[in-house]
Amino acid sequence: MDNVRLVEVGPRDGLQNEKRPLSVADRVQMIEGLIEAGLTTIEAGSVVSPKWVPQMEGSTEVLSSVGHREGITLQMLVPNFRGFEAARDAGAEEIAIFASASESFSQKNINCSIAESFDRFLPVMEGARNAGMRVRGYVSCVLGCPYEGPVALSSVVAVASRLHAFGCYEVSLGDTIGIGTPRAAATMVRAVAAEIPVSSIALHEHNTYGQALANILACLEEGVSVFDSSVGGLGGCPYAKGATGNVATEELVFMLDGMGIKTGVDLPKLARVAVETAAKLGRDPVSPISRILAAS
Ligand code: HMG
Ligand code: MG
Repeated sequence: MDNVRLVEVGPRDGLQNEKRPLSVADRVQMIEGLIEAGLTTIEAGSVVSPKWVPQMEGSTEVLSSVGHREGITLQMLVPNFRGFEAARDAGAEEIAIFASASESFSQKNINCSIAESFDRFLPVMEGARNAGMRVRGYVSCVLGCPYEGPVALSSVVAVASRLHAFGCYEVSLGDTIGIGTPRAAATMVRAVAAEIPVSSIALHEHNTYGQALANILACLEEGVSVFDSSVGGLGGCPYAKGATGNVATEELVFMLDGMGIKTGVDLPKLARVAVETAAKLGRDPVSPISRILAAS
């Protein structure tokens, strides 16, 4: 494989679990920095209940402030039709919907069963189709659930296939609590790829147990070529206790650069975004290499 596409989820997954919320202006600056560093697909925020995830309030303003950029896809995560309408009205060209492979996580995260979540997605998909918007789908808990423990492969495959059948152009398989190890990750991807094209599969790794890069490498070998990551390794899910950051974009780019796989990302520029964003959050970047790279 010569190229991979990175989906930068820092402005959404990275910030949604932080104690200190970032202002709209700071989030816009973060996205500008990510674009400048060469990232072309960026999840700009989410339209969810501000009572549940206050950090994401103002996401539509973030999106409309950055505005349309040639060659850049800004994505908005939405749980329901209301979220879709707000994203569309703010100029989103792409949205992401999110389902879970585990019933308990679905209930905790979006307050409904897996089956009910698909009922909510139906009008979203129809609205997006009418508006000419692309839809990406997430499956959470593909390698384990914070409430149920092991998750059946059959459930991961069923939810991923259904999202694909609904019309999602890409299905991102989320190791929400970062509990997967490389063979389990490869087996899971192989099972999903038996049902939907591997070119429409992305991997979304959290690095809770330090397995993210190893899992990504294992799935690269299975033919996956799209990976979600978060600048600075920020992130976590408010509904998955102990889930730490996503795989750090700079660590992933460092690994891919070393393997001769192109991402189009300028590492020092990216690392400076990691350091600046962490400073605004009042913390160190989760990824220790950010400082080294930012100074290079
Ligand atoms: P609900 O309580 O079932 O639904 O919430 P509701 O219709 O009764 O609405 C509850 C309140 O939310 C109401 O406000 C609604 O108006 C409001 P109130 O009357 O209480 O003041 N509301 C909304 N507000 C803004 N935007 C909306 C919206 N819809 C309703 N679109 C709901 C259902 C989904 C809204 C709620 O459960 C929620 O917001 N959950 C947050 C989900 C979330 O953001 N989770 C984190 C992202 S997922 C993730 O991190 C995993 C991922 O990264 C992959 C991985 O790692 O696995 C993607
Ligand atoms: Mg996540």
